This record gives sequence, C-alpha cells and structure tokens, in this order.
Amino acid sequence: MQPLRKTVGSVRPEKAEASALEVSGLTVRFGARTILDGINFDVRDGEFLCIVGSSGSGKTTLLRVLAGLARPAEGKVQFAGAEISGPSRDRAIIFQDYSKALLPWRTVRGNVALSLEARNVPASEQDAIVDELLGIIGLSRAKEQFPSQLSGGMQQRVQIARCLAQDPKLLLMDEPFGALDAMTRQSLQDEILQLVADKKIATVFITHDLEEAIYLGDRVIVLGGSPAGIMETMEIDLPRPRNQLTTREDGRFLAYRHRLFELLVQEHPPQAFEGKGQQ
Ligand SMILES: Nc1ncnc2c1ncn2[C@@H]1O[C@H](COP(=O)(O)OP(=O)(O)OP(=O)(O)O)[C@@H](O)[C@H]1O
Ligand SMILES: [Mg+2]
Repeated sequence: MQPLRKTVGSVRPEKAEASALEVSGLTVRFGARTILDGINFDVRDGEFLCIVGSSGSGKTTLLRVLAGLARPAEGKVQFAGAEISGPSRDRAIIFQDYSKALLPWRTVRGNVALSLEARNVPASEQDAIVDELLGIIGLSRAKEQFPSQLSGGMQQRVQIARCLAQDPKLLLMDEPFGALDAMTRQSLQDEILQLVADKKIATVFITHDLEEAIYLGDRVIVLGGSPAGIMETMEIDLPRPRNQLTTREDGRFLAYRHRLFELLVQEHPPQAFEGKGQQ
C-alpha cells in the first residue's frame, strides 16, 4: 500500500474554459416513471465534479447514461463534442463493488492487461504498461496475486489501474470507496486526486458522503426531488493541493458541509438517513 500523502492533487488545472462533457435537458424514464427530469450541467476539461443525492435519486442512472450504458428519453449528452451513443474506452467507469468488477481467475497483472487487450496493445508492450500502472497505484508487489488474495482497498486499486489502462479522458466513479474502511478510503481519495490531476482526466464522482464530495470536488451537484433534478450546484473554493487535516478543518469546508446537509435533510427527514453511513 502506498504511504498516505500529506498533500495531493497539486497539478489541477486552473478554471478550465472548455467543456469535456455537456448534459442538456436530460430526462430518463423507466416505463411510465420519470427518474431524472431536465438535468443540465457540464464537466470542464480536467474538472473533478462530485454528485450527491439521497438514495434512489437517480445517481447511478445518471452515471450509466454518461457511460453510454443507458439511453435518455429526452435531452442530449455530448462528450468531446460528439453525442454519446454507447460505451467508449474514452469514458471509464469504476464501480463500488470491486469484487464483481475483477475477474477472479486472472491475476492482478491479467486484470489490468484486460484493458490493454481491448485496445489491441501488442503483447510485447503490455508488461511495461502494466508495471508502470501498478507502480503508480502501489501494487507492484501484488502483480502475480489473484483478487481473492487481496484486501478490499487493493482490489479497488486494481480496478482503478485497469480503468487507467483504458487511457480514458473521462473517469466515472459510482461510490467507489463506499465499502472501504475510513483510513483506506482517505488514502484512495488522495491517490485518485493525484492520478486524475497528473493525467488531466475529467472526473464525475458519485458519493453519499458529503465530506468526501467537498474534499475531492471542484464543484458539487446536489440531486433531489421526485423526479430528480439539480437542487444546487456548489463551487468548492478550497485550495489545492488538498490535505486530509487542514482542508477538512477549513471554515469554508464546514460551511459547505452545513449547506449540503441542510439540503439533503430537507429532502429526507433524519430517520431516512439511518443506516446509510451518512456523516
Ligand atoms: N433498470 C431499472 N428499471 C426500473 N427502475 C430502475 C432501474 N434502475 C433503477 N431504477 C429506479 O430508478 C431510481 C433511481 O435508481 P438509482 O440506482 O439511479 O438511484 P441512486 O441514486 O443511485 O441510489 P443509491 O444511492 O441507493 O445507489 C430508483 O427508484 C430505482 O428503483
Ligand atoms: Mg447508486
């Protein structure tokens, strides 16, 4: 496991002008039921956008549309100027359930190489790329191990390395650290900030954890209502690199947390949060 960095994400771009992803008038229905209604937002080049919302508000559904795994009933979703019509290796998705995302019969090396095989990277070049990615993610020594031999945090790192092997321009993450213990979660938060900053990847990150959203994000979008729409978009004016201690103690951090909590409590009375791991 990599040591916990003190400060991370030092290479975030200044406020980028261009939009990598544009969502306009997005409406999603399942049968007669409208889940998401008239969603508009963009993700700027290199931006880290977080989305929070109560359970069932349609966060995963939204991410699936961005990944090209589900189609909207109305509206338009464009990535790099082209309408999204299906999955593409430019847009990688990382799921919460790492154990299901990895192939149990393949080693760590084999799981990461999967993305390289899909890109038709010649076999002779694969080892060097896998080695580099495992080095970045701190798993070099686990290369020949199988997923069942790894901790949860290590398995999630393998999933991240596999997504990076796709060489994506957009990273879509659906509560990726939700099943991990607090310390592993903080390490991975810092590692992912560093990775997307280094590789200049735009990111959409979904979480139930309000503090996680503020810690990671350049902006936080709050989904709510029924059908769900955007209740609020919050610019996170906190300096980068972020730091697990000082960032979380910053008065602005606490004010953002207060506001987000207010919005979500107003959506759902406190008893609805029980058992959801809300902080
Ligand atoms: N394939 C489907 N068919 C019908 N309804 C669906 C389908 N997928 C999701 N839904 C419904 O859409 C709503 C939004 O689901 P979604 O999984 O997107 O919510 P979520 O915000 O990700 O929730 P959670 O925070 O619990 O993960 C839910 O009411 C769910 O039951
Ligand atoms: Mg979900």
